[in-house]
Amino acid sequence: MTARPPGFIDAFTPSMLYAGDASGRPTYQFAYGCPRTALLPLEELKDALDRSLSAPLGRRLLQYGNLNGHPGLLEALVHRLRAWGLRNAAPETLLITCGSTQALDMVCRALGRPGGEAVTEAPGYPGFLGAAEVQGLSLLEVPLDGDGLDPERLEHCLASARERTGAVPSFVYLIPDYQNPAGVLLHPGRRQALVEVAARAGTVLVEDLTYHELRYDGPEAPPLGSLDPTNVVSLGSFSKTVCPGVRLGWICARRDLVLRLRRYGSLLGLSALLQEAVFLLIREGTYDAMLARYRRSYREQRDAMVEALSRHLGPGSGARFTRPQGGFFVWLELDPSLDADSLASRCERSGVYALPSRLFHPAGRPCPPGLRLAFCFEAKDRIAHGVEILARVLRGEARGAGRAAAG
Ligand SMILES: Cc1ncc(COP(=O)(O)O)c(C=O)c1O
Repeated sequence: MTARPPGFIDAFTPSMLYAGDASGRPTYQFAYGCPRTALLPLEELKDALDRSLSAPLGRRLLQYGNLNGHPGLLEALVHRLRAWGLRNAAPETLLITCGSTQALDMVCRALGRPGGEAVTEAPGYPGFLGAAEVQGLSLLEVPLDGDGLDPERLEHCLASARERTGAVPSFVYLIPDYQNPAGVLLHPGRRQALVEVAARAGTVLVEDLTYHELRYDGPEAPPLGSLDPTNVVSLGSFSKTVCPGVRLGWICARRDLVLRLRRYGSLLGLSALLQEAVFLLIREGTYDAMLARYRRSYREQRDAMVEALSRHLGPGSGARFTRPQGGFFVWLELDPSLDADSLASRCERSGVYALPSRLFHPAGRPCPPGLRLAFCFEAKDRIAHGVEILARVLRGEARGAGRAAAG
């Protein structure tokens, strides 16, 4: 197995989120899917933590917690997920995890066979690609289009894997809502066909609903788990709807799969204190108020990025970009003559951080040039500035590529 090249995780240091560069020049952070720091719920969490600890049984929250998850948080999740249509959600079909990152790791370990295959979208989420590769899974890519994963393409991929190896890939991982990195919504009309394709082929669909509640416009779409509760594993996170610092996520799956997945969880559970605090935020309606605030801000940030891109990278620039209806990311497709790694390095030297397409494919796989631009972290006026700089660098790179082709 090839080791992952340095890039996505290796380059991430939280301090880069706040620093200008050494010369004090401003930097623009479009690289990582971190929420805007000013939006994070400092007062709400302080209050919830204080009340959790001041309650008669507060001291118990400092002990090891319930290994299956905090009962109150599980109940609150059951209620929420059922409202999304996940009708099999129940305390015994749920697991609380350390962010959805741990959920992905557990899925790869519990469902994958070392040396076996799994399917991912292309471009795909690096957190999943890394978790799968570490487990020795070999990844098959199905390219996305503007409506997400195409059921016919998936069917073809599964059938040819079976023909080639005699086995069906263990599972298919996808992000139906506002995909990371492409920003696309899996078209509601494709969802039923996808669950049927997976069930017919005898493989499990793993849907990552991390961005499900961050819809800014466009249609509402049902989770795949609401269409086939037996063959779909749904997972999600509180990182984008509360904050990453609570490190809480979840998995909802068929009971026997939950028992299998649980074997790969944290031996002594997660923080009871943080689970209690998030439970209070949900129960008291603070969570919904925060969500409304997040949606309002991220919609404006999305608009700022799309407007700036339209202004500075019009037709003729060779670049095309998505207008996501939710989530955190815009995907910038570049002219095939451009090198995304070199463009990302040049942008970084100009103070703008963005991630090149190579990081969104299994290690060593060829891929068309593109950049992922996260609009979640910077305020809207800074987004407009950063995009202006990025567009200037891109035009310079395109001129260079043109000269090289002519010369
Ligand atoms: C699609 C997707 N899944 C999972 C994660 C991991 O989130 P966390 O571990 O913070 O829950 C992210 C974070 O950006 C993500 O974009």
